[in-house]
Amino acid sequence: MKVFSTSAEIYSHVLRERLEGKRVGLVPTMGALHEGHVSLVRQAKSNCDCAVATIFVNPTQFGPKEDLSKYPRTLDEDLEKLDQAGCDYVFTPTESQMYGAGHSTYVEPPQVSSRWEGEIRPGHFRGVCTIVLKLFQMIPADIAYFGRKDYQQLAVIRAMVRDLNIPVCIEACQTIREPDGLAMSSRNRYLSEEQRHRALGLIRALRIAERLVERGERDVQAVERAMRQELLAAPVDSIDYAAIVDPVTLEPISEIQASVVGIIAARLGSTRLIDNATIDCR
Ligand code: PAJ
Repeated sequence: MKVFSTSAEIYSHVLRERLEGKRVGLVPTMGALHEGHVSLVRQAKSNCDCAVATIFVNPTQFGPKEDLSKYPRTLDEDLEKLDQAGCDYVFTPTESQMYGAGHSTYVEPPQVSSRWEGEIRPGHFRGVCTIVLKLFQMIPADIAYFGRKDYQQLAVIRAMVRDLNIPVCIEACQTIREPDGLAMSSRNRYLSEEQRHRALGLIRALRIAERLVERGERDVQAVERAMRQELLAAPVDSIDYAAIVDPVTLEPISEIQASVVGIIAARLGSTRLIDNATIDCR
């Protein structure tokens, strides 16, 4: 596994792989890697000839009240995990390489970014779109892998790729969970044992939504009410949203038809968790 920190190096190596006819898979991350991230690398490795991961804690996607300096940084362990997963190249740029003096160009994120995370975290998706586009330019991959865990982020990136004609395929990968159902997240490490237990309210609420729809419930409000009830019973400390939405636009819907997505954001102490589930009612 080769590790590079300049865009010139990663670009020339990846370009050479492409020119040799190799299929290149890209996995952008912010490090603090867990089994969810590693699963994306394994998928890239199994579908492509060459897997590239990036580790960069992107300052522009953090709000002023979100503590960028507290984001976990575990580079040595991350590189070990990537190596074991068969990753070929890792790009670990510094902040000044990604945002040099005078950097002032940003991506205006698509419509699908406007609600939910976009509303609660103003500027977040502007930062995500900007860094992901920059990474796509520096690493000319065939396929980029993103987790369904961050469902809105995935929808935002798909829309950006479509709207800006970026020549990369976006592959969505399933959410990896702990045995008890908690979605893996770098933020889980901040939960006390007691909060960790209450955090299971998120997956329980999503499962209740699935079960209700399976049994024929088509009233969005009834399902959302049941989700909230389950979250409050956990109890979580506060609910940012618990909604049933359109799987592509993420707009609220009036009636459950075909496929919908249940999305949740809730807080346990100062830790904010998100989760989602796609619910098919065919
Ligand atoms: P980060 O939170 O490090 O996540 C990197 C990738 O791992 C994302 O595609 C995310 O959806 C995926 N992921 C996280 N937890 C997962 C889980 N439990 N199962 C499956 N996939 C999971 O998302 C970001 O970084 C950043 O916003 C980034 C796209 C790198 C831009 O800075």
